[in-house]
Parts: sequence; structure tokens; C-alpha cells
Amino acid sequence: MKRITVIPGDGIGPEITEHAVRVLKTLNLGLEFDFQDAGETSFNKTGEYLPKNLIDSFEKNKIALKGPITTPIGHGFRSINVELRKRFDLYANIRPVKHLGNIDSKFENVDLIIFRENTEDLYAGVEKQISSDEAHSIKIITRDKSERLVRKAFEYAERNNIEKVTVVTKANIMKLTDGLFLDVARDVKKDFDIDLEEVLIDNICMQLVMNPEKYQVIVTENLYGDILSDLCAGLIGGLGLCPGANIGEGYAMFEAVHGSAPDIAGKGIANPTALILSSAMMLEYINEDRYADIIRKSVAETYMDRNNFTKDLGGNLTGEEFTDILINKIKERL
Ligand code: NAI
Ligand code: MG
Repeated sequence: MKRITVIPGDGIGPEITEHAVRVLKTLNLGLEFDFQDAGETSFNKTGEYLPKNLIDSFEKNKIALKGPITTPIGHGFRSINVELRKRFDLYANIRPVKHLGNIDSKFENVDLIIFRENTEDLYAGVEKQISSDEAHSIKIITRDKSERLVRKAFEYAERNNIEKVTVVTKANIMKLTDGLFLDVARDVKKDFDIDLEEVLIDNICMQLVMNPEKYQVIVTENLYGDILSDLCAGLIGGLGLCPGANIGEGYAMFEAVHGSAPDIAGKGIANPTALILSSAMMLEYINEDRYADIIRKSVAETYMDRNNFTKDLGGNLTGEEFTDILINKIKERL
């Protein structure tokens, strides 16, 4: 019996988490769900943003399904997301971006995956107020942490017969930090029969919005990976569709690329697809590939009919109605 720590989170988190858990329960895999609050939701109940119960639960279960958590902008407490990723050393943020069904989007021929370093870079949170008119942020890049991530990207390419890995940096300007990340990529490449393509972050932004089919595996630092993830989501129809995994040694946390979407929270219109596809990644992680496949095929089939679209994709369905249709398709495949 596998127990999963479920963190509904803030904003649209609780609604999409409810739908994703409904999907998982449909599979009758005997999964158990241990619900834990975090973020604003938890603070409002207990005065704590990251309660010990959650940490204990994740420590024990080693696997988590997480909704988004709101982080105050420009002030207030530090990101709980970053804290969780760092505390459990979930160093590889893996985000597949694939066009689904007949969704109207800028591109249809997008099928790529982003490997984002998840523990350092400017997200290390080393900031210093020099004066009221000056602040510094220190960018930290280390060989070990870059290497383990880049290696994961190459191993993925090897497993999937992909011929090249694209490393994205700004090593022409940040010669020491980004230079190190790039050097590591060049070194790791020597262990594989796979090409390494080097593209600067500004150039890849332009390339991706013109010719996204050129890319299959992108490996990059924390901040660039964050920005590129949302950019790539925009290529295929938006954030409602893009799943992700945060993988470490022995611990893994699965969550959508998107945030808590306060602009639509509580209306029931959030698209649960991104978290449902994150659940499929989770099933693959626990070697339930058949069920991951059933979810993915059923999602793709659901999107073949435009009547099944939620509001973000130009349709009328609520997240709950979308999930009901999806669950019927899943049942047909079980
Ligand atoms: P966001 O990703 O929450 O929303 C951006 C836009 O996409 C909004 O217009 C939103 O309505 C739409 N959107 C996002 N998910 C959607 C879905 N499932 N269905 C339909 N539309 C969807 O980004 P934003 O507004 O910049 O951030 C809001 C909060 O989320 C912030 O506090 C931020 O720190 C937090 N955040 C948390 C993350 C996490 O927990 N992993 C990741 C990103 C942001
Ligand atoms: Mg982001």
C-alpha cells in the first residue's frame, strides 16, 4: 500500500487537487492519501506556513502530490515551494511540454522537456540590502549540483533515443557562474553519444516562439528554467496543461508548472489537467506505467472534443465537469 502526501496548497490548489485525487482513486491502485496543509491555507489555521506534520509526512512517505502555494511578491515570507525543494534536495525539476489533442495554440508540433536545476542559482535567496537604495542578490552555481542535473537530462535523452541536449545559459555575460554550468554540460556530454547544443537564453526565447519543434531536451539553471517553462506553456495553450516533477534522491514531489492563480481561485473554472498529468508522472515514478498511460491517453482523448474544454481553452466546462468526463474515459480503459 503506497501512501502519498497530498498538499492541496492555496488559491486554485484545493480544487485541482480534489480533481486529481478523484482521478487517482478511480484507478483502484490502493493508494492512500495523507492530506497536509501548507502556505496561506495552513497559516490561517495554525499560524505556520510549513507545518512539522507536513515535513514528517513527506519524510515518511517520500512522495508528494502538491498544489500551488501562494508566495507574497516583493515582501513577506520566503517561498514555501523553494523551501520544500531545498529541504528535500529535489534538485531536478522536470517539465514536459507537449501539444494535446485539437487545442488551438500557436504551435502543434511541440514535444519537449525542460530539466531545470531546482536548488541554487539566484533562488538560493542570498540577498543583501546595501542601503535603502541598493540591494544585491548573489548567484550561486556549483559543479556538483549542476552536474547531477545535466546528467539526468542526458540520461533521459539516451533512454528516449533523442539525439541532442540543448543547454541554455548566459555564459557570454556571466562567465563564472553560467560559464561553470556550461563547462559542466560540456564535460558530461563526453560520457554520452549525444550532441550538446549550446544556446543563449535570449536567443532561445526567440527560437522557441518561432521554431519550437527544433528542441527536445532543454537543460538549464533555476531562473531560466522557471521563465522558459511558462513561455513553453504559452506555446501549447497555457499553464493549465503543463505538469512537472521535482526529483531528488529518494524523494519526489509532483506539481503543475502554474501557480495558485488568485485571479480565478474559488470560481471552479481552473483547469485541473496540469496536476492530473503531474499525477501521471507520479505513477510512472512508482512504476505504475500502465496507469500513467491510461491517464495520458484519456486526457488526450478528452481533448479531441472541443465541448470538453475548460474556460482557459475557450470552452465552458468547470474543472469538475471536465474531470467527470475524463474519469468516464479512464473507466473505459481500465
Ligand atoms: P499563475 O501561474 O498562478 O497564473 C498565471 C495565469 O495563468 C493567471 O492568469 C491564471 O489564471 C492562469 N492559470 C494558472 N493556472 C491555471 C489553471 N490551472 N487553469 C486555468 N488558468 C490557469 O502565476 P501568478 O499569478 O504569477 O502567481 C500566483 C501565485 O502563485 C504567486 O503567489 C506565486 O508565487 C505562486 N506560484 C506558486 C507556484 C508553486 O506553488 N509551484 C508556481 C508559480 C507561482
Ligand atoms: Mg514558475
